[in-house]
Amino acid sequence: MEPTPPREQTAENPTQPAPAQAHAARPVSDMSPAEFRKHGYAVIDWIADYLDAPEKWPVLPAVHPGDVRRALPQSPPQRGESMDEILADFQRLIVPAVTHWNHPDFMAYFANSSTAAGVLGEALSAALNVNAMLWRTSPAATELEFLTLDWLRQMLGLPEGLFGTIGDTASSNTLYALAAAREMHPELRIREEGMSGRADLPKVVIYCSEEAHSSVDKAVMTLGFGLEALRKIPTDSGLRMDVAALASAVESDVRAGRVPLAVVATVGTTSTTAIDPVLAIAEVCGKHGMWLHVDASYGGTAAILPEMQHVLHGCDRADSLVVNPHKWLFTPVDCSALYTRRPDLLKRAFQHIPDYLIVSEGESVANLMDYGVALGRRFRALKLWFVIRNFGVEGLRSLIREHIRIAHLLGDWIDADPELERMADVNFSTVVFRHCPPGMRGRELDDHNSRTLAKVVAGREVYLSHTRVRGSYALRIAIGNIHTTEGHVRRALELVKEAARTY
Ligand SMILES: Cc1ncc(COP(=O)(O)O)c(C=O)c1O
Repeated sequence: MEPTPPREQTAENPTQPAPAQAHAARPVSDMSPAEFRKHGYAVIDWIADYLDAPEKWPVLPAVHPGDVRRALPQSPPQRGESMDEILADFQRLIVPAVTHWNHPDFMAYFANSSTAAGVLGEALSAALNVNAMLWRTSPAATELEFLTLDWLRQMLGLPEGLFGTIGDTASSNTLYALAAAREMHPELRIREEGMSGRADLPKVVIYCSEEAHSSVDKAVMTLGFGLEALRKIPTDSGLRMDVAALASAVESDVRAGRVPLAVVATVGTTSTTAIDPVLAIAEVCGKHGMWLHVDASYGGTAAILPEMQHVLHGCDRADSLVVNPHKWLFTPVDCSALYTRRPDLLKRAFQHIPDYLIVSEGESVANLMDYGVALGRRFRALKLWFVIRNFGVEGLRSLIREHIRIAHLLGDWIDADPELERMADVNFSTVVFRHCPPGMRGRELDDHNSRTLAKVVAGREVYLSHTRVRGSYALRIAIGNIHTTEGHVRRALELVKEAARTY
């Protein structure tokens, strides 16, 4: 293909002003529609092949820290380069250095996948390039966000009337929920006076289980409560929050004159996918006027299956709940849904309107900028709307159901294998286990599993990650990729056993 650098301004295209100084480079214009078509078709062809068979590349790249950066020019080009050159570098230098989350053998963390409909939605939102800060700055982006999240709410069996917005991540959304919780106490005047240097402010306390995600710690750090304000409640034998321990921690804080503000319950913990007893936690919250936030960022998606609705039992009592379509609903990163029944408090936490953003619609519309830190809002709803429409609720259910089926099968294989030990219940699509040579225990067993995982990862055929279960090292196989089949999971388990014998 002939190189096609950006077009320089010519006499046939006089819409741009003349350069101010003779030595200045003449303004260039964007690539022509013909060029865009040419490269656009090439990119779509590439994506179509990639999404069809991401396993053309190893799931983990063979790179060392700094390799990618060293392979690229260290300063920007002064003159435009052709898209042919840029795309060639993308294929030659970038793709081989990517960890392929779309790969069926990606089973680390919470595996996920992009899908064609989601990619098309993402491309179109980049093309439209709207900033949905105000309803007026893109009515369709604002209204589609509310509509799509209402569809998702119905799919999840959550109560009517919940207000939902889309943010970048569960971490941001949990922070927003706790900022809203803080506004339950306007008498503390935190919005106005802040928290620092105030002898009049009581200690405000937040609770989550020992198994809650680190985003809760980050939220309390960022919001100025401080890590010491976060009570990590012990868990029961199933690694679920112990509600009796929660109730007694809250009561002791009340007796000490502290203000119990909020509980973060988790549906699908990061380590073992445990499900906190949300209904019982809601009772404690109700008794003490606390905000209940549910982190269902991974596990919540399962509730689109009628037979898994129970995982959100009690969540109708939550003040807020986060679920991530970018984790297990085949929507490209980033897309995290935050629901709340107190949008008034979310708004009180974040609304701050300078003169230049005042619009005549007033309170007749919802402006997304009022519900978080960011002014600018991406048109994230488009890709989620595409995914839900393209697969349909039944299609999405069939995918999630299959992942759960494979996870249970894997659990059965592990249970039947004397070399292996399952370390947690299989609640969703993630299985936690370890390799147990006879007679090995304690630190030696931890090291053995850590070495086993290192060997598996070094092989680059499958990507698994680890966790600790009550202090013991454990391996995780997370199934969330649209391409992952029973065969891939069987092979992953064989690789673990092989690595355990040969590291
Ligand atoms: C239970 C849970 N909550 C929150 C998060 C953070 O998600 P995000 O990357 O969207 O911030 C994770 C990440 O895996 C998680 O497992």
